[in-house]
Amino acid sequence: MIDDTLHFPPGFQWGTATASYQVEGAAQTDGRGRSIWDTFSHTPGKVHDGDTGDVACDHYHRLDDDLDLMARLNLGAYRFSVAWPRVQPTGRGPVNVAGLDFYSRMVDGLLERGIAPVATLYHWDLPQALEDDGGWPHRDTARRFGEYAALVGEALGDRVHTWLTLNEPWCAAYLGYADGEHAPGRQEPAAALAAAHHLNLGHGLAVQALRATVRQDAQVAVTLNLHQVRPDTDGADDLDAARQVDAVANRVWLGPMLEGGYPQDLFDGTVTVTDWSFVHDGDQATIAQPIDLLGLNYYNPVRVRRFTGEPGPDAAGRGGPGGPWVGCDDVEFVRQPGPYTEMGWPIDATGLEEMLLRLHRDHPGLPLVITENGMACDDRVEAGQVHDDDRIAYVHQHLAAAHRAIEAGVDLRGYFLWSLMDNFEWAHGYGKRFGITHIDYDTQRRTPKDSARWYRDVIAANGVPAAVGPVTA
Ligand code: FCB
Repeated sequence: MIDDTLHFPPGFQWGTATASYQVEGAAQTDGRGRSIWDTFSHTPGKVHDGDTGDVACDHYHRLDDDLDLMARLNLGAYRFSVAWPRVQPTGRGPVNVAGLDFYSRMVDGLLERGIAPVATLYHWDLPQALEDDGGWPHRDTARRFGEYAALVGEALGDRVHTWLTLNEPWCAAYLGYADGEHAPGRQEPAAALAAAHHLNLGHGLAVQALRATVRQDAQVAVTLNLHQVRPDTDGADDLDAARQVDAVANRVWLGPMLEGGYPQDLFDGTVTVTDWSFVHDGDQATIAQPIDLLGLNYYNPVRVRRFTGEPGPDAAGRGGPGGPWVGCDDVEFVRQPGPYTEMGWPIDATGLEEMLLRLHRDHPGLPLVITENGMACDDRVEAGQVHDDDRIAYVHQHLAAAHRAIEAGVDLRGYFLWSLMDNFEWAHGYGKRFGITHIDYDTQRRTPKDSARWYRDVIAANGVPAAVGPVTA
């Protein structure tokens, strides 16, 4: 009999991911402080429909039920994030024991069910008090983050085996401080680059703090949403545009964390924005802490070309002021062919394969994990069911791409589907659904979608069928 399954390596970790502000709710419970996302979501006009994370999926109060749900899905791992303002309500000072206890109960509940906890320390909910003091553009925030990491490490480090310092610092720096679509909603390109540096510094300090507090066999890593940047043509100008975007999107993190320092072309390309004088002697050594794994979040590739003075018919915007692409004023983003997700993101799994191959080539010996991947769909409950065939096809395509990368030699250790359940999708509020479990926000009823059952079977088989269907969205 022909086995037409794409088998993943033995021990491959299958999980789902969520983030504190997106699912927990209980925004004012047990001493939790305010985060920048509380402030931002309560500011009129910032989030779709005025949605906030006040209640979200009420994960905080429904922890046991949600843990049982995970067990029924046969999950091997659960990636969650710790809300800094639950642990340290103002971002400094002693621990708020009640807040930390929630994560301790979560970790115990996961382990009891045979699910590995994967903890992210920062998924964007900066304590508001630290933003009031300047936020990530302010150097002290990095130091505070290191101290917070030590507190969490001390409390959970005996039981959590995998740690991620930051989630997608690209979003925290550029969407938060240059574009303004995310909290704290500032549009200050120079501050965004300072934020990027202090996020890097905070990462290094957090790795040090974790190494000093958590179990010796723990794995410490970071999660980056690296952009697979494609030039529109092979012409020198378009290649150069792609290089420029790669510097501000990717090498701004990979450089100092893994490649010995910031790339010179990043400095050259942003010279009119900042002189980078916030980089101090010794910072590079702090940032370059050895890590055990690299987490990659992947949703879609980007296509760029040199802006020639006239937007092309397929133009999808330009870099520069008012957007996230700091220093890329003469770069034009190109609309890519569909199909698209409900976010309007093009579906193209080849970008995932290419990025995995690049990381493997540039960093041989550094194991990789896909810490997020998934699709927003226009899901509806009909007779108690949600038929999300497109999400199944999307995940299937991306797993097939990941499998091709493994076959080509990439040391890929796991895959975390975004997300366990529908949740607060940042500026899109509850309008976009990424979950494999449907949430009825009026009743908090959880309804596993078809994709949840499909994923459960993938986990059981440790693989996916070789034949991949199309996404019809
Ligand atoms: C990523 C975020 C995650 C979620 C997905 C859709 O950028 O890390 O919280 O919003 O996108």
